[in-house]
Amino acid sequence: MKLCIKNAASFVPAGALAEEAALTAAANELLENGQGLGNDFLGWVHLPSQTTDAFLDEVQACADRLRAKAEVIVVAGIGGSYLGARAVNEALDHTFGLNGNNPRIVYAGNNIGEDYLADLMELLEGKTFAIINISKSGTTTETALAFRLLKTMLEKQVGKAAAKELIVCVTDRVKGAARKLSEIEGYQTFVIPDNVGGRFSVLTPVGLLPIACAGHDIKALVRGAQDMEKATDSNVPYEQNLACQYAAMRNALYQYGKKIEIMANFNPRIHYFAEWWKQLYGESEGKNRKGIFPASVDLTTDLHSMGQWIQDGERTIFETVISIEKANKTVIFPHDEQNLDGLNFLAGKRVDEVNKMAELGTQLAHVDGGVPNIKISFEKIDEYNLGQFIYFFERACGISGYMLGVNPFNQPGVEAYKKNMFALLDKPGYEEDSKAIKARLAAR
Ligand code: PA5
Repeated sequence: MKLCIKNAASFVPAGALAEEAALTAAANELLENGQGLGNDFLGWVHLPSQTTDAFLDEVQACADRLRAKAEVIVVAGIGGSYLGARAVNEALDHTFGLNGNNPRIVYAGNNIGEDYLADLMELLEGKTFAIINISKSGTTTETALAFRLLKTMLEKQVGKAAAKELIVCVTDRVKGAARKLSEIEGYQTFVIPDNVGGRFSVLTPVGLLPIACAGHDIKALVRGAQDMEKATDSNVPYEQNLACQYAAMRNALYQYGKKIEIMANFNPRIHYFAEWWKQLYGESEGKNRKGIFPASVDLTTDLHSMGQWIQDGERTIFETVISIEKANKTVIFPHDEQNLDGLNFLAGKRVDEVNKMAELGTQLAHVDGGVPNIKISFEKIDEYNLGQFIYFFERACGISGYMLGVNPFNQPGVEAYKKNMFALLDKPGYEEDSKAIKARLAAR
């Protein structure tokens, strides 16, 4: 993995980056010594190096069991219990679903769309399907709602005894509805460690099981993360520590008015990585009325929609470009006798070469337009590189959050909508809130 910050450094006064860089060592050390805010959620810091092959074999065995039985595997989860698995799977899967003999992986429990669920149930009708129910709390409405629907459908389709073999829960060691239900029904379970928060949990069974189910190599993924854990350790000096350099640069830009970070990619397979990254940084840093707003664009697609704003809008943004050095497949652009589209100058070139020139041209244009540019490149999309990528962003997020002076490991803000929703739905226990919210709405 490579990080280039030279096209961002010129946007902050001389010395500003050095000031932020000087703060990174202490912030990184807090992740090691556990003396910072939210220190009961630091289990992810050494998770890769503590993950044994024996444990990965256990996850793989469960995945193989489900893969052997199911045409479709539904992964039910939301936020940190969903985005990491989807990010890795969508990066590695065939874009149009030609995944050989692998079961189709679909996602549920990440919204409350009735049409979405109805469509999903239509897809599952008459098919052998398995469910991986992922929820640390076991009480998240979106996930619990989808799981109840899917479990009911599965039991109707194959009977309770067979359904039991097709359901796996990934949840808390002892607490919550999913744990209790698993004990009653006898589902296989995996534990989400107490000290790993949702958005840092992709390298636990939360991510590993759905990724293994899709047929991807979880050992290579963890190996990539292990190598990045070493490379970003607090003993590694700033000059070699890419997580510290990224954290320093983005904080320096933030101090000088760049309030929005746009993750841009030039490979559609990276789309869900940006979704995962947005949650990681948004939930970790957006508190106490502070924090960079994480946004994302898929390029060149969005150059035809958001490109105008990025080039010419308010100068409060910077871009972090994820650059994949080599495409995994080859497509050569053909010559055409008529050349009506005028594209014969591209004949014989790989499409990736065109994409790379679009990437470079965009970088130059955006920097000229006043958009600082951070570039993160890796060689190609594979499990090892994705593992590096995941841990790099986790580590940099912890460092960056501590530099900002927030607790990067809680998310008190996400409760507000839930309280209102439960009050509006007359959930038992919310009677007072229910009266208050209804009075407020009536007074409008
Ligand atoms: O990062 C987080 O903690 C959240 O995004 C949670 O992962 C998300 O709300 C899902 O929670 P749970 O796993 O308890 O269902």
